[in-house]
This record gives sequence, C-alpha cells and structure tokens, in this order.
Amino acid sequence: PYNSKTDSIINLMTIEEKIGQLNLPSSGDITTGQAQSSDIAKKIEEGKVGGLFNIKSVEKIREVQKIAVEKSRLKIPLLFGMDVIHGYRTTFPIPLGLSCSWDMEMIEKTARMAAIEASADGLNWTFSPMVDISRDPRWGRVSEGSGEDPYLGSEIAKAMVKGYQGDDLKANNTLMACVKHFALYGASEAGRDYNTVDMSKIRMYNEYLPPYKAAIDAGVGTVMAAFNEIDGVPSTGNKWLLTDLLRDDWKFNGFVVTDYTGINEMVEHGMGDLQTVSALALNAGTDMDMVGEGFLTTIQKSIDEGKISIEQLNAAVKRILIAKYELGLFDNPYKYCDQNRAKTEIYTKENRDFARKVAAESMVLLKNNNNILPLKKSGTIALIGPLADTPENMAGTWSVATKQSESISFLDGIKTVVGDKASILYARGSHLDYDKEFEKIATMHGKALKKESRTNEELKAEALKIAAKADVIVAALGESAEMSGECSSRTNIDIPQVQKDLLNALLKTGKPVVLVLFTGRPLVLVEENNSVPAILNAWFSGSEAGLAISDVLFGTVNPSGKITATFPRSVGQIPIYYSYKNTGRPLDNTEGKFVKFLSNYIDERNEPLFPFGYGLSYTSFKYDNIKLSSDKLSENQSITASVDVTNTGNYDGKEIVQLYIRDLVGSVTRPVKELKGFQKIELKKGETKKVTFTITIEDLKFYNSNLSFEAEPGDFEVFIGTNSSENLKSTFKLL
Ligand code: IFM
Repeated sequence: PYNSKTDSIINLMTIEEKIGQLNLPSSGDITTGQAQSSDIAKKIEEGKVGGLFNIKSVEKIREVQKIAVEKSRLKIPLLFGMDVIHGYRTTFPIPLGLSCSWDMEMIEKTARMAAIEASADGLNWTFSPMVDISRDPRWGRVSEGSGEDPYLGSEIAKAMVKGYQGDDLKANNTLMACVKHFALYGASEAGRDYNTVDMSKIRMYNEYLPPYKAAIDAGVGTVMAAFNEIDGVPSTGNKWLLTDLLRDDWKFNGFVVTDYTGINEMVEHGMGDLQTVSALALNAGTDMDMVGEGFLTTIQKSIDEGKISIEQLNAAVKRILIAKYELGLFDNPYKYCDQNRAKTEIYTKENRDFARKVAAESMVLLKNNNNILPLKKSGTIALIGPLADTPENMAGTWSVATKQSESISFLDGIKTVVGDKASILYARGSHLDYDKEFEKIATMHGKALKKESRTNEELKAEALKIAAKADVIVAALGESAEMSGECSSRTNIDIPQVQKDLLNALLKTGKPVVLVLFTGRPLVLVEENNSVPAILNAWFSGSEAGLAISDVLFGTVNPSGKITATFPRSVGQIPIYYSYKNTGRPLDNTEGKFVKFLSNYIDERNEPLFPFGYGLSYTSFKYDNIKLSSDKLSENQSITASVDVTNTGNYDGKEIVQLYIRDLVGSVTRPVKELKGFQKIELKKGETKKVTFTITIEDLKFYNSNLSFEAEPGDFEVFIGTNSSENLKSTFKLL
C-alpha cells in the first residue's frame, strides 16, 4: 500500500539522503543531553541517519525526532530501536528461562507487555526475538534464545512476534520486531562467540532455520543478519541467505539490519576493504548498517564506480521507508512520545505482579529427594551464597531498561514472603568466583561492584556459624548475570569452584540443603546432583525474581517448568541434544556400560544429566494408555494420539505433556525423536485427564537431500511423555 508514497519520496531524495536512511548509529553522545549540538544531531539534520538505537525516554526521543522532522530537508522520521528482549523496565526471565514455561499465551503476553512499556518510553523497534537454536551451552548467548529445539523455538518465535507487533503496528503501543541473528549464530564452533559456523544444508533446513521462518511467517517487520559466516560467506554479505532464501523463497518483504558493525567485521573475515564489503552487503540484501557507517562512507563511491546500482540502493531505502509508514511515523512522528503513558504504563503494579507469576512458571525443579521442597515457613532458614543478596544479578543479560537496584533480590523476596513466620539468617558465604577474579567480573558488569574485602575463608566461616543455627540451608549459587549472554563463552560450565567449596562445607553440616541455582545456560551439575537433595533452577528470572523464587520454594507455586536445552554430564559431550541421529553403531544399553566399537565414550555415558523436556513438580504424574485412533495415516487424513495423565501426588499441579515422533526409515537419516506437539495441563490431585494430539502428514515432513519438504511413506513411532526420554510408545504407518 505504500508503494507510490515511498516512490515519490525516493524521487525527491539525493543519493546522500538515500544512503542516510540506511544508517543506524548508536545514540552515543546524544543521550548525554546535548542532542542539538552533537555530531549525530548534525547528521540527522543533514539527512544522514535513518534510525537510532540505545536511546530511550520520551523527552530524549522527542528532542531527536524533532531534529529529523523539523530540521532535515525531507523531514523523514527516525526509527528508535533497542534490545528489549525479555521485558523492559518490568523484566521477565531471560528468554531461555521463559521458554521453559512452554506457555505460548504467557510468552506472547510478556512480549506484549514489553512492547507497551518500551513504546511508552518512546521506542518503536526491538531487536527481538532472538531465535537462534543452540546445542552448545558453552556459548553464552544460549541464555537469549529458546533452547535446542526447532519446533518449540518456532512456536515461541511466533508468539513473540505477535506479542511485540500486536494486531496493528499503527497502534502507539506496539513495537516492530526484529528476528535475529539470521542465521545459525547459535552453532558457532566450540561455543566461542562470533566464531565460524559450518553446517550441512539438510541440518540447516531441518534443525536451525525453522524458527526464523516461523517469525517471518508471523509477519516480523525486520531481520538482523548474524555475525557468523555461512558456507564461507558472512551472513551480512551473503546473497544466498538474504535474497535467495529470505526474500525469494520465504517472501520476506521487510528490511534487513546488520548486527553491530557487522559490515566492517567482514574486513576482518577477509572479504575485502570497507568499500568492498559494504557493496557486498548491500548487493546481498542488507538494508541498514548498524553503527559501522560503511554504507555512509562508501556507497556513493561504489555507485560512481558501478559496483552498486541505483535500483539496489532504492530498494533498500524503500524497505526502510515502508517500515516507517507501517509504524505510522509519517502520520505522527511523535506517536510514542506521550509523557502520560511514560508515567502510567511502565513498571506498574499489574506488570510486576505478572512478571512474578511468569518468573515462577519458568523455574525448573531439577531434583527433590524425599520431598524436601516445598519448605515450611517456620523455624530458622539460613540463606547463604553470593547470589542471595545481589539485585544486580536477578534480571540477567540484556536487561537494558531494568533498574538493577530495584530488582527484588532473593534475600528481600524471601523476607517478604516469609514475613514473621520464620526467621531468615543470611551470609554471603563466598565470592562469586575466586578472589583474584574480582576485577575481571567487575569489568564484565561494566561498573564498579562493591568489593567484598573479606577472604573466601572468612566468608565461609561466617556462613558456617549461621548454618549452625538453622533448620534448613538454602544455598544461592551459580553464575553471575554477566557470566552468560553476549561474549560470555565458557569452557568450564561448572558452578565456580569457590562456590562448590562453600556448598560442600554446608553439606558437611548434615543439615538439609536446598540449592537455588542462578544460571544463564545449562551447567554441569553432576557433583551437585549427587550430593544435594534438592535443586531449583531459577535462571535469571527478572525484576521480581526474589519473590518468585520464594513463591516456588514455599509452595505457593508448584513448579512446572521443563528445560528446553539438555544439561550435559560433562563438557566433553557437547554438542548434546535429544534429537540426535542413531548412527550406524548406536549404543543400545542405557546403563552407561562402555561397549567397544559402538558410538560411546570410554570415560562418560552418552546420556545427559537432565534431558530436554525434563522438570519435576511437587506432585507426581502417571502416564497410561497411549492410544492412536488408527495405525495408518493417509495423506489427507489425521490420526489422534491420546494418553491418560493422572496427578498421583499430594499437590495440584501443572504438567507439560510432550509428543515426539520418530521416522524409522528415510531417504536421509532421521533423528531418533522430534518434538511435534506439547500441551500444558493443570491437574488437581487425584485427577486424570485424557490428553489428545492430532497428527497429520505435515508433522512428518522434512527437508530431503533436494531440500524439498516432504513426508515419506513408512513406519513411525509416537512417544508421549513427561520429557524427551521417559515416554510411552505406539506406532503407525504413513501410507
Ligand atoms: O541486538 C544486538 C545483538 O543481538 C548483538 N549485538 C548488538 C545488537 C544491538 O545492541
């Protein structure tokens, strides 16, 4: 609908102004309150900026927008983007945690709420959802995605796009979404951030591309190109990826933005000088240049030299202008600048209450021997650990608008929830990491942390004194928020040793110990699983974390989260995921016995510590009676698979019932199991529900060696169960 409008603007534009629309600087000095005189302000006035990111608040954005629409020649409004990835000032769990809720309605609502808050603060564009599949917990950015599975990842991608963009981008409380990082960023070699990716097309299409495609099909407005290469060409300059696949095959017609200096980095990748890589990017289908100004400084020259056509430039400009029309910015460039909304719609009581609920739904109970949890609100509880009293570690990575100091720490939360019913004692117990790492961690936090001057030994001694007075010990351990996220790759994914030492000392007291784990990735928890009776994985669960953890700990909320990324037994098993291929020499025993010349390790079992889809409840569930409506499926029909699930324990609870399918024989090898459906149900104690799934030929399709998406007749197995490795099985034939 904006064809002729955008064409008429393009007709008025100089080449310089066109190039300007493709430029996305970070706000830089403009946020220091000197908008009018800053370098960026000058560029905006000259029509050399298409959008700005990392600037927020109605006053600042209004001031900057004013320069664009009042002082620049063509008065084209700016886009204002930010990494609003798990809530805004009201912060939800890190995306990996959120995905463990398996609750699409709730996830959509978190994105909706984030969009309401961010747009009330002047923003109109978010760099989310991040849908990179990753099977490597060494990679710090697993925290930002939805785990290892393409089916679940696709459902979440859709929900988030819907949540951000709502039904109408023209409304003033929606954000344009940006699916990232296109593509395959989660498969960087050895889990090292920004590293090389190399992948077969079959794996790419079947396992890694589906969530991006789901976001496109859900109407996402923009796409961010990834830092990594694909088939030897960095995504930012990869024509196959950004044009042939994205636009021609998938029919995406929004615009593509680079990641931060993605164009310039192609020089380091070895693709040529800045002019060459900028031309490569534009010709490949990149439209907007984040920060690096490769477009701004070289495109004119490339046009003069015939390396870029005016048509190619116009196409990019047009896509960006259309996005601005779609957002309604030409009608009202200040539509997100409403002080009243800023005052009344951000970090409200209602939003915070919802965040508390979401956080509790995202937590995963990994172990609960002898039903030690839920705890009683009575007696003396010792809360010990370097993550107990640190509000700055509650929200997690990329919480750009969170006011760290107002996040509810575990200690504050537990005190509020327990009130005067029990006495809470607190000790820090240890440093987050070993002493000498303090400076490094402080730098990672980007600010001066309060230095703890006591040694680990002193901290531990204090903790043991407190533990001696307690009936139960709650240990708050794990990673600091900055130990996961961008550029936080680890080769050792244990709880830091200094905290393990503290835990062992606490266990030695002989008192019951509950481990509340803070982490942005699956950790190796073999030792803790052997020694600690109860483990609750709280992730980084947002601004209301402390309250939500306490809600779960004391049973106000019965935990129901299930992990969406496999927890390995050892780093040596990575990459590890449930939908592996059988190989020609599969290990049949599950007792962990090594067998020579089969596919296994001499020093570790094949199975993970906790499989995909795993998570406990305070109650227990029994699965019975798996039934298929038919043992044959033909092309235009469907069959139903059902199972009876009974709550056999002592609490009402929620269960995430999972359906997996195995295609036994294919023209290419097929995974041993693939998630094809799930339902989150609520069961009162003693209650039984029949859970039904519909299976159609669509669920059986996959990309074959011609990359065509087809189902192949033959035998299939259906598994329904509580996680990817404990389930009931039935079979059918596709005719
Ligand atoms: O959106 C992010 C991206 O995920 C990583 N690099 C920086 C971008 C903008 O902040």
